[in-house]
Amino acid sequence: MSIARRRVAILISGRGSNMASLIEAARDPTYPAAITLVLSNRPDAAGLARAAEAGIATQVVDHTTFLDRVAFDAAIGRSLGDHAIDLVCLAGFMRIFTDAFVTGWQGRMLNIHPSLLPAFKGLHPHAQALAAGVRIHGCTVHYVVPELDSGPIVAQAAVPVMAGDDEAALAGRVLAEEHRLYPLGLRLVAEGAARLEAGRTVLTSGARTALGLGV
Ligand code: GAR
Repeated sequence: MSIARRRVAILISGRGSNMASLIEAARDPTYPAAITLVLSNRPDAAGLARAAEAGIATQVVDHTTFLDRVAFDAAIGRSLGDHAIDLVCLAGFMRIFTDAFVTGWQGRMLNIHPSLLPAFKGLHPHAQALAAGVRIHGCTVHYVVPELDSGPIVAQAAVPVMAGDDEAALAGRVLAEEHRLYPLGLRLVAEGAARLEAGRTVLTSGARTALGLGV
């Protein structure tokens, strides 16, 4: 007997390439999550058309039409509730939620950030990495907590910084890893192989193997 797949909403603000990688992974009927909603705060997000083409329900909750963050978050919350969403994946979603909203989704909301956290939080992480002169850069899938880019880490992937890299070259190398890592991270959370316990991510030995960490 198969276990019910977790119902996932992906929140985007732009091109949606990470969204597309999650949708692609979830086409496999053995994947433990089903993408049931793609929600954007921007009506012009290119990812909306990609999601619709894949036959997924899309919705725009335009932040500019709300009086404040509380009202915007409430509208997002209603939409997630209407679609009986179990897990939320932020994928290039460039709005910051209120602490109360994030706390309500604790352990059930993931984000991908294009750096090896806790290095290079916030905007322009690739420029930050180049300015710092690091040799290794990468991406992180983490649980969302109220503090920006600071939640317990689920999965990370590293890439080398090459001589002559500019921001675009480095971003492209990281993005290829993001597209592999986010579906893996979501899978581990959806199947319960990664879970949040007392503010830390606990991995099963199977999850450690899947992440290439040894047992
Ligand atoms: C991705 O690189 C993602 O990691 C980053 O925005 C890009 C969105 O691309 N997210 C953040 O910087 C969040 N702090 P996509 O729309 O093609 O997935």
